[in-house]
Amino acid sequence: MSELLEKARSYEKAATEKISNENRPEFHFSNPVGWMNDPNGFSEYKGEHHLFYQYYPYATHWDSMHWGHAKSKDFIRWEYLPAALAPDCAYDSFGVFSGSAMEEAGKQILVYTGVEEKMSEDGKKYVRQHQCMATGDGVNYEKLEKNPVVSADMLPEGSSTEDFRDPKIWKEDGRYYMAVGSRGSDGSGQIALFCADTLHEWNYAGILDCSGNRLGKMWECPDFYPLGDRQVLMISPQEMEAEGLEFHNGNNTAFLIGSYDRENLRFCRERVQSVDYGLDFYAPQTMLTEDGRRVMIGWMQSWDNPMYPDSQPWSGMMTVPRELSLRGGRVYQWPVRELNGCRRNAVAYKGVCVEKEMKLEGIAGRSVDLELRLKGGGYGKCRIRLASDGRRYSEIIYDREEKILTFDRTHSGFAKDTISTRSMYADSQDGVLSLRILIDRYSVEIFANDGAQAMTSLIYTPCNATQITFAGNGQLYMDVTKYDIEVER
Ligand code: FRU
Repeated sequence: MSELLEKARSYEKAATEKISNENRPEFHFSNPVGWMNDPNGFSEYKGEHHLFYQYYPYATHWDSMHWGHAKSKDFIRWEYLPAALAPDCAYDSFGVFSGSAMEEAGKQILVYTGVEEKMSEDGKKYVRQHQCMATGDGVNYEKLEKNPVVSADMLPEGSSTEDFRDPKIWKEDGRYYMAVGSRGSDGSGQIALFCADTLHEWNYAGILDCSGNRLGKMWECPDFYPLGDRQVLMISPQEMEAEGLEFHNGNNTAFLIGSYDRENLRFCRERVQSVDYGLDFYAPQTMLTEDGRRVMIGWMQSWDNPMYPDSQPWSGMMTVPRELSLRGGRVYQWPVRELNGCRRNAVAYKGVCVEKEMKLEGIAGRSVDLELRLKGGGYGKCRIRLASDGRRYSEIIYDREEKILTFDRTHSGFAKDTISTRSMYADSQDGVLSLRILIDRYSVEIFANDGAQAMTSLIYTPCNATQITFAGNGQLYMDVTKYDIEVER
């Protein structure tokens, strides 16, 4: 093991012992210590779910990237494993960037972007990004001698050699495939496909799709998978302009839904759908479970507007893993069913008439799964205040006439001027708007209309702010069920 990796492992071990679980989210994954961004290598290995992540253990800001590592049997309880990769080779000395993993012949294969800083003859620094591999046993990994296995000179002419990263690997009909984000000759995003008969010999196989300067610049963190009768190319475009209520985060995420001609390796995009409308969501990845579910996890933070208290020794969280399905041409997201096993203390009300701001006995908490059905044709707005102590709160506002759902954390108690509201279009179905709201100590995930839309945001309100209140103007009737989420560790 390299000195760099050994150092990271012993540092994280000593540091993690000092951080108590009470200062962590109840049911979201957080990194042991230091900085975390993208999920990496989210996949099954020997019957367990593995999650790697972009990681800098020594400080709560981004720096020289390692891969952190954890595993779980149920997507909710994660066991920290020692850091998996460090930037300890010449070809990845500037960082072990994002990538993916798969199981092959009993081994776990990690594929990542090695970033190298080089110096030109005239003394100018430049960066090269290339795709590298490591194999291991689920804890310890060895990088291939042949690294890098895919380099930017395999891309079509004019493609960027500096922005070429985040390989997603999969196997299909005995062949290996890898989708990698890059920039084409017009400077905007494209996803390049590579294929191989053995894991060490890769060939360029075409461009799956490209931005043409319409959907942002560099396309990061691609994933490519069948869903229902369609194929989804999931991307995280940088520098993307907002359009109406869509794509407000600068760094955004999109499902490109289309068809895939497997014989000729051609993807044909039919629709574009925002993955998440919240303030804090980026770089999602999916995996296929042994029971056939396509499960997605995302980084619960924003590059443009990072939000975490300076006093916290860890900075990152992941969303609750979400099962994906395709209905009516749209991708639906729903918290993994394993979360239902952590529901306790159900409290339910039916047909409550909501007028002035009201509390409901037993409906409160800071680790809560809340199901709501808002009904009635006469009300204008419904307001739900949560994580509230009266003075501080976060608010969900549904404007029934405009059909717009807004999340607002302006008064959530964070003492920095961060961006605080986002809105999305959410029509009611047969006069009912259904919402599922997951509230954890530091986050709120909202699923509207059975998961047709999702909205994920962070809050850092003191954890004793647990009240939930409801208000409506006009005739608003509401069914509500609350469960506490308790994770036995
Ligand atoms: C996305 C990203 C990836 C890159 C990684 C570096 O958030 O920029 O493209 O591999 O983060 O940490």
